[in-house]
Amino acid sequence: MPKPLIIANWKMNPASARAVRTLLRRVAAGIRGVRGVSVVVAPPFPYLAQARAFRRVFALGAQDVFWEDEGAYTGAVSPRMLRDLGVRYCIIGHSERRRVFGESDEVVNRKVKAALKARLIPIIAIGEEHRESQEVVPAALARELSGAIAGVPKRSCRHIAVAYEPVWAISTTPGARPDTPDNATRRAIYIRKLLTKLVGRRTADAIPILYGGSVNAKNAVAFLSHDIRGMEGLLVGGASLRPEEFGAIVKSVARRR
Ligand code: PGA
Repeated sequence: MPKPLIIANWKMNPASARAVRTLLRRVAAGIRGVRGVSVVVAPPFPYLAQARAFRRVFALGAQDVFWEDEGAYTGAVSPRMLRDLGVRYCIIGHSERRRVFGESDEVVNRKVKAALKARLIPIIAIGEEHRESQEVVPAALARELSGAIAGVPKRSCRHIAVAYEPVWAISTTPGARPDTPDNATRRAIYIRKLLTKLVGRRTADAIPILYGGSVNAKNAVAFLSHDIRGMEGLLVGGASLRPEEFGAIVKSVARRR
């Protein structure tokens, strides 16, 4: 079984270079020496260079990327620039990118292809806006997932991860509640079936599926699969900015193995 992957998505936090120094130090102290879990920290772009100093403790992630290598694209950051900074993972298609920045499935697809070309591992985020009953599989999942990997060669799909993040469960969504572990497991099974249809069983089996949405130290382990193959990692937002809580999440997942 591959090691569970835990990704800290700091979003546009913390607010200053000073605060990031403290946060990096405390996050590293909270997880140093923990084995059996792969931890990725995805800070805002300007803090990546600082975060790089902790490469022995966690891998570096970016929260977004553009699809061109260089040129007249004001404000954009290329996959190669991220690679050169030591970044290994890149979140693509987060619901905030889709909603606040208007990213379409086509934009997500271009970014996924560009990231793969630069040998970054895309963490493709998908998830429905509104809560539906367990029996209904939200149509957004198939659309967003097939859109994200359209035209990507099968062998490249071995180097992606998929994060299921229902928007209604993200802690900053008004009225947010975490999904239930049971539902998350069903969604993981559905997503793996979908992947099998899209890229074949062998490739689909190599793709980790992560859960995100109000993950904390109390519920982290419950979201990960136990006997059947369900969620194999976590995408953590709010709790990843609280070093003690984040450390507790990582340790609880490490202990579970
Ligand atoms: P949350 O955010 O853990 O604060 O719900 C997760 C995310 O949006 O990636």
